[in-house]
Amino acid sequence: MKILITGGAGFIGSHLAEYFNEQNYEVFILDNLKTGYHSNVGFIDNAHLIDNDVTNSQFVTELIKKEQFDYVIHLAAVVSVVETIKNPILSQSVNIEATLNMLESNRQYNKNLKKFIFASSAAVYGNTEGLPKKVNTFIDPESPYAIEKYAAEQYTKLYNKLFNMPTTSLRFFNIYGPRQDPSSPYSGVLSIMNEKFQNDDTFTFFGDGEQTRDFVYVKDLVQAVSIVLNNENANGKIYNLGSGEQISLLQIFNTFEKLYNKTINYKFSDSRSGDIKHSYAQIEELTSLGYKPKYSVEDGLAAYVNYTNHS
Ligand code: NAD
Ligand code: UD1
Repeated sequence: MKILITGGAGFIGSHLAEYFNEQNYEVFILDNLKTGYHSNVGFIDNAHLIDNDVTNSQFVTELIKKEQFDYVIHLAAVVSVVETIKNPILSQSVNIEATLNMLESNRQYNKNLKKFIFASSAAVYGNTEGLPKKVNTFIDPESPYAIEKYAAEQYTKLYNKLFNMPTTSLRFFNIYGPRQDPSSPYSGVLSIMNEKFQNDDTFTFFGDGEQTRDFVYVKDLVQAVSIVLNNENANGKIYNLGSGEQISLLQIFNTFEKLYNKTINYKFSDSRSGDIKHSYAQIEELTSLGYKPKYSVEDGLAAYVNYTNHS
């Protein structure tokens, strides 16, 4: 079985590539290495690691025509919200147009396709009231990033409705784990906090630290993706990919203290403008397909810290 993972050299993509490689799928990665790294996927040979851009539509179409992938997982994106605000025209060409081209190329040239999965985001909910966040409720995008993810997931859904393509979108909540890059202030907060603990630096809580998120350990995401990939009932659907649990930053900090058996300095500063106070996902639609998150935050952080200290 051939599987194409766009953005496969990135944080999430590398875990999916590892899993499907171990399951003996023939894994192809299409990645321009903008925020991904060759070293994340050392187990993929050069013939299967295609260093190219998803916006290169002719190249992508030819690749799909030639390889006739059984599965496509489309993760490549401008992932930084700030970058999409600075350059919405460029980011929409990656986040919307390239997704549409990927769908269209598969529709026209790949009769072998068994599933197309698109990585959407909890960002589509914005600051809407009401918890947990449900797929069929009001959305309120607050950034080009969120609009682009929404447009692309809706195209993905529409291609099922219009052309009966086997497509599914997943709205990822806050994913964390090994290989998440902490280098930008807008990186996932857990990768930043982990790095501060490693280096005995000061961590800054934006706001009072009481804000909550639905943090998902990346191995649980892999479980969810593999379930969706093999389930025809998921076609034409959009699911929240969360853990269904709400955890505050202060609770996370305490868990890191226990795991590292030490504390570090911390301070509080102003909340980020537009920051969401509380967020967690309703995940019943996904659990009804058999998904069951296996990592509590304690287990996930323990696995993360263990990895960090042995790599
Ligand atoms: P990441 O930056 O580690 O991975 C993105 C990958 O896409 C990188 O390897 C990058 O080099 C590649 N890429 C970017 N632009 C490209 C282009 N034009 N052509 C080819 N490759 C390109 O980020 P991630 O956290 O692994 O995110 C993966 C996906 O999940 C993204 O679509 C992101 O929007 C989505 N997502 C992530 C989270 C999270 O918590 N990490 C939450 C919601 C949604
Ligand atoms: C996440 C997404 C973002 C999306 C948003 C909407 C990630 C990395 N970001 O942002 O793309 O638009 O959901 O749902 O998944 N914080 C600190 N100190 C720090 C860094 C962050 O206190 O050094 C706080 C933030 O202010 C926020 C919380 O930690 O309150 C989580 O931040 P972050 O990891 O960036 O995720 P989201 O804000 O949920």
